[in-house]
Amino acid sequence: MDSMAFPKGFLWGGAIAANQAEGAYLADGKGLTTVDLMPTGKLRWEILLGNLPSYEPLEGEFYPSHEAIDFYNRYKEDIALFAEMGFKALRLSISWARIFPNGDDLVPNEAGLQFYDNVFDELLKNGIEPVVTIAHFDVPVNLVKNYGSWRNRKLVTFFETYATTLFKRYKDKVKYWMTFNEINMLLHLPFVGAGLVFEEGEDKKQVKYQAAHHQLVASALAVKAGHEINPDMKIGCMLAAGQTYPYSCNPDDVFDAMEKDRDSFFFIDVQSRGKYPGYAKRFFRDNNLNIVMEAGDEELLKNHTVDYLGFSYYASRTTSTDPEINKTTSGNVFGSIENPYLEKSEWGWTIDPKGFRITANQLYDRYQKPLFVVENGLGAVDVPGENGEVNDDYRIEYLRKHVSEMSEAIEDGVEILGYTSWGPIDLVSASTGEMKKRYGYIYVDKDNEGNGTLKRSKKKSFDWYKEVIASNGEKL
Ligand code: BG6
Repeated sequence: MDSMAFPKGFLWGGAIAANQAEGAYLADGKGLTTVDLMPTGKLRWEILLGNLPSYEPLEGEFYPSHEAIDFYNRYKEDIALFAEMGFKALRLSISWARIFPNGDDLVPNEAGLQFYDNVFDELLKNGIEPVVTIAHFDVPVNLVKNYGSWRNRKLVTFFETYATTLFKRYKDKVKYWMTFNEINMLLHLPFVGAGLVFEEGEDKKQVKYQAAHHQLVASALAVKAGHEINPDMKIGCMLAAGQTYPYSCNPDDVFDAMEKDRDSFFFIDVQSRGKYPGYAKRFFRDNNLNIVMEAGDEELLKNHTVDYLGFSYYASRTTSTDPEINKTTSGNVFGSIENPYLEKSEWGWTIDPKGFRITANQLYDRYQKPLFVVENGLGAVDVPGENGEVNDDYRIEYLRKHVSEMSEAIEDGVEILGYTSWGPIDLVSASTGEMKKRYGYIYVDKDNEGNGTLKRSKKKSFDWYKEVIASNGEKL
């Protein structure tokens, strides 16, 4: 499976997020964030959907973010391993509450800023380009508790201050930025995507779309500020992508699939094309939603669109309008009926390498801007052998097929800046909070209950990915 597709300078690497890797959840002045209130187990799912029992961690629950994999203290060792694999880029996020512990503070927390300076310096020393997500699934708890999070317009200003602080501080170290991780996740997991906690009897749709408008305005303001501070900065959006297939050629199914994709494109249409699409206006009308906008919002959205499109791809989705067939809906955050042509992961996520090529083509056709694959990978149970070795051939197989389809997409004419696979080192799962859902080339000795030495070791896929990078995607 040789490929000549990948351009020189293609950004191979991996992607992590502060809340799933750093731990040290109250160190050096950091404030509590939404993810610090998300335990493992059943309660987590309720919280993800916006039903939060308490603004403090509860006795007797286990909160995986509090220690995570301790990247906060071990980043040098981890970056050395990434460098050994030949990484050209590391995507990581900044924890908002490390910089502004309460979100509404007047001055940033110097210790937090210094931590990321140290991380970026370490990366640059190793020839690794930092790719930074400004908000990856965490909001300072104070903003949730006392402002109602993103439903409140004030969050726009707090975010603008936060983003501007980062741009000024890191303007000579970080070129690639993204504003909101998987911005469309807000509609599916509102607590994760936007820190939303619902009140009894509230119109959830109204709250979600109002919050979405605020994030879209905040994103445009960040693009504006970043370009003013350093015109060479590339500021992107980030979509949880994955084409929706109609189950049949019944036009009702085809239309339904189109609408499901539009739920996600809605965000990117605004961030990349600069205006609310007609179908969104109809959706607001049909659902009696009244999205409050301020004078100047439309102008802002129009003038400050993103430079590139970051996206994650794990799976395609399949939809049907037939209630009988819909009974098979299962699997993941987006809910998909079973596609009889495809297999699933241990967590019910459809495995569809060709869907990756389809998705990349579709996004490029629609937006005509460079794409950046900032997440892709297989969450699987790894069982170390007697000597601790992990022979993760299943992971290699998944990645090989996906990288191969990515090269086909490039041959199709799609412009792709880079590929950062998700979780190059095992970390906490965002949806379940488990450690056993592993994505890494590097194994971390820690289990779901928090036991383990946190020792890092290389899996079989480590050497495989090293070869892929060294050959610029030719040796798969
Ligand atoms: C994306 C997120 O949704 O998928 C990551 O941006 C997340 O934060 C990843 O970890 C994989 O999902 P999960 O639930 O397996 O961790």
